[in-house]
Amino acid sequence: MSLLDKHRIIEKNASLLLIGSLIVVCIGGIVEIAPLFYFQNTIEKVEGMRPYTPLELAGRDIYVREGCYGCHSQMIRPFRDEVERYGHYSLAAESMYDHPFQWGSKRTGPDLARVGDRYSSVWHVEHLMHPQALVPESIMPSYRFLAEAELDQFAIDAHLSANAVVGVPYTQEMIDNAQADLIAQATPDADTSGLEARYPKVRFEDFDGNASKITEMDALVAYLQMLGTLVDFSAYDAEANYR
Ligand code: HEC
Repeated sequence: MSLLDKHRIIEKNASLLLIGSLIVVCIGGIVEIAPLFYFQNTIEKVEGMRPYTPLELAGRDIYVREGCYGCHSQMIRPFRDEVERYGHYSLAAESMYDHPFQWGSKRTGPDLARVGDRYSSVWHVEHLMHPQALVPESIMPSYRFLAEAELDQFAIDAHLSANAVVGVPYTQEMIDNAQADLIAQATPDADTSGLEARYPKVRFEDFDGNASKITEMDALVAYLQMLGTLVDFSAYDAEANYR
């Protein structure tokens, strides 16, 4: 009996086919799932990652609230065209403090995973107020109202605590200083020594150019300006994790 003939027996018997399929699916499942029980952690640690500063976290909230995710992804795939356009492909560790993550699946606009430090904050504010002034063919809507809206900062410590509950390593010191850190990051000439000690590589400036109040625009631009800037890829060795 040839191999094909043997296969015909299975094909003609529905119950046998079902049992056979189940066995094959089980083997596939075990091969995929079993190794996960032996890993301590599926996310490799990467130098440079830190939790968001209070202002960045508040800005991230606005990003989520406004649904920027509907047009922008935050995940650079390891393909040559993407890496050449956006920079080093995204690492799992880069979104390990994201609740919820903003990987997205729709790119009406460009990926934003490494947009930080690419433009000046003045550019971002101009662009968010009136995208077509900078990119005439843009279909991105205007977010002018963010520059007027005062940032609600009074529950920011609770916001840090909530993130700590789900595993983001915010310390009690960070939570106690949340509101002061938020203000210091967006206020010109503020004392930022505590902020800088708690959040390495923090970028502080009057993001929206309006020193009279801290707006939602300040927070959103602070968030955009840090995206993808924490890991130093000139020192990152992807191979090291497999040695
Ligand atoms: C309707 C879809 C749409 C929405 C919603 C949207 N954008 Fe955009 N965005 C675009 C498009 C298209 C571009 C490319 C043209 C341009 O630069 O304006 C863009 C460009 C950008 C850029 C410049 C990126 C680069 O690398 O040049 C930034 C930053 C940005 N958007 C941020 C945001 C933020 C923040 C939000 C939410 C507050 C948002 N966008 C909402 C469509 C959108």
